[in-house]
This record gives sequence, structure tokens and C-alpha cells, in this order.
Amino acid sequence: MRQDHLITATQLSRADIEAVLDRAAEIDADPAAMADRYREAVLALCFFEPSTRTKMSFETAIKRLGGATTDMGTVESSSVKKGESLADTVRVVEGYADALVLRHPSEGAAKMAAEFVDVPVINAGDGAGHHPSQTLLDLYTIRENVGLDDLSIGIMGDLKYGRTVHSLADALTNFDARQHFISPESLQLPRSVRFDLHNAGAQLREHTDLDDVLPELDVLYVTRIQRERFPDETEYEQIAGEYQIDADTLEAASDDLAVMHPLPRVDEIDPGVDALPQATYFEQAHNGVPVRMALLDFLLSEGEL
Ligand code: NCD
Repeated sequence: MRQDHLITATQLSRADIEAVLDRAAEIDADPAAMADRYREAVLALCFFEPSTRTKMSFETAIKRLGGATTDMGTVESSSVKKGESLADTVRVVEGYADALVLRHPSEGAAKMAAEFVDVPVINAGDGAGHHPSQTLLDLYTIRENVGLDDLSIGIMGDLKYGRTVHSLADALTNFDARQHFISPESLQLPRSVRFDLHNAGAQLREHTDLDDVLPELDVLYVTRIQRERFPDETEYEQIAGEYQIDADTLEAASDDLAVMHPLPRVDEIDPGVDALPQATYFEQAHNGVPVRMALLDFLLSEGEL
């Protein structure tokens, strides 16, 4: 199927995912081979919310492909501050670039933007919605460390507002993965995501206690409580501090467990875990570059995935 944009992970088949991951592995093995491939290409970065990893790894990715970026800058310094609509912003920016990476606080923003422009739009996070390019690097990291077959994964923390969770869970329905969701009751998966997962035949279980599943996990994917999405700060205060892991927690886990986190972490993973062989989150963040190079290669060369 032709895909001009990357908006959600549900649009990706297993074959699409494997094609991107295979390309990323080739690039990882020999990044220099791609150095001049997209010498004329410009990637627009439109980030209406904070970002470190996503923005910088897309930037490094296009530069390693020989291209350049044009960056909207912060909302404060752009015409958004003057009241420009998202539709107008993206229609203007498409004239400056060959593809557009968009992060926005509203769910559905990337889908809407894609209706207004012809260049590929990559959803780099739409509110509590989706973040599919993060999912591709998550899957790449899982495949490199423990494999994607017969996978037992625990996804823990803010399952309600965590967009990386929603996209990862969707994508994992393409594989033989047992998905264990671990969270306080108030932060369980949104109904719409659970509905999509059931429709896709997901092997899904929900827990409030990590101890119930930790020993059987191949991957523990920890997430930050998404403070900025809470309508009520007191609700956040009640939950913050729960669902943290440290070196003691991991005593009950397999030695081969991969502990992942999309980052940034606040206090969900104690820094004492960083030196353990199970800590995989910095490697995961670094994988953003080859995976986003591969994704851009597909979208820029063929205009499709
Ligand atoms: C995530 C995001 O923005 O959704 N960050 C990222 O892109 N790696 C996770 C988060 O902010 O907690």
C-alpha cells in the first residue's frame, strides 16, 4: 500500500516495519554509504511542543543523508504567536521543504496537516495520540536485543496519555507479542486504543503490580507520567512517584531483560540501573538516527513506505 505520510503505527504492516528496520540495519552498518544520497533535500521541523531526541535525531538523520533542515523554532518565536492557524503554517512550510516533521499538542494535528500538503508529513507526536517514528526505533531496539518473535513485553507507567505507548502497542499486534500493561487504574489504556488492539487481535493483559509479570518479561518499557497532559495537578501529585524501578526491582527479572524508555525520564528509572547490562534506553535513543535515516530514505525516494 502506498503511504505518503506517517501518521499512526496502525497504517504500518509487518512488511512495512521490517523494510524500514532492515534498511536501518544496513545504514547502521555503513552510514557513510548514504552520505550524499539526499544532497538537495530539506526537512522542515515544526515542533509546537518541547523535544530533544526526536528533533535532534531527525536533524542528524537528514544531515547524514546529505540534506539540511529548516526549523520553525519555538512557538514563541514563530507566527503561531501572531495567531496563524496550523493549516496555514504547514501550507507555507511545504514550499520550503521536501518533508515535514510535526509535533503538536492536539491529537489529530498531523492527520489534519497531511490533508493540506503534498510533501510527506511525519507525526512526531500529536498530544496524547501517537508517535510512530519512535515506535520504529523502539522495534529496532527490541529486534536487536531480544528479537521480535515470541516476545513478552511489559509496558509500564502512563498508558493513558503516553503516545509512544499507543503507537508501540498498535505496531506490536503485527508480531507474536504478549503485551502486559502495568499502570495505576487511573492511567490505564484509553478505550479507543484498547478497542484498536482488540480488533487487531492483540494478546493483551493489564496489571497494577509489576511483580506479577516481571520474571517472565523479555522487555520492560518504562514511561514517564505525562505531567503536561493532566487536567488537574493534584491528580498528578498523587500518582507521581509510583511505578519506579531501581536495581533491587530488577533482581526478580531475567538477566536478559531489556529495560527501555523513550526518555526523558524523570524518576521512573533510578540512575543506579544505568550501569546494569539490562539498561537499553540510551542505545534506544541512539537508534533514532539510523531508523529515521531509513524512514526518510523511504519517504523521500519513493514518496511512500
Ligand atoms: C516522548 C514523547 O515526546 O512522547 N519522548 C520522545 O519523543 N522520546 C516521551 C515523553 O515525553 O515522555
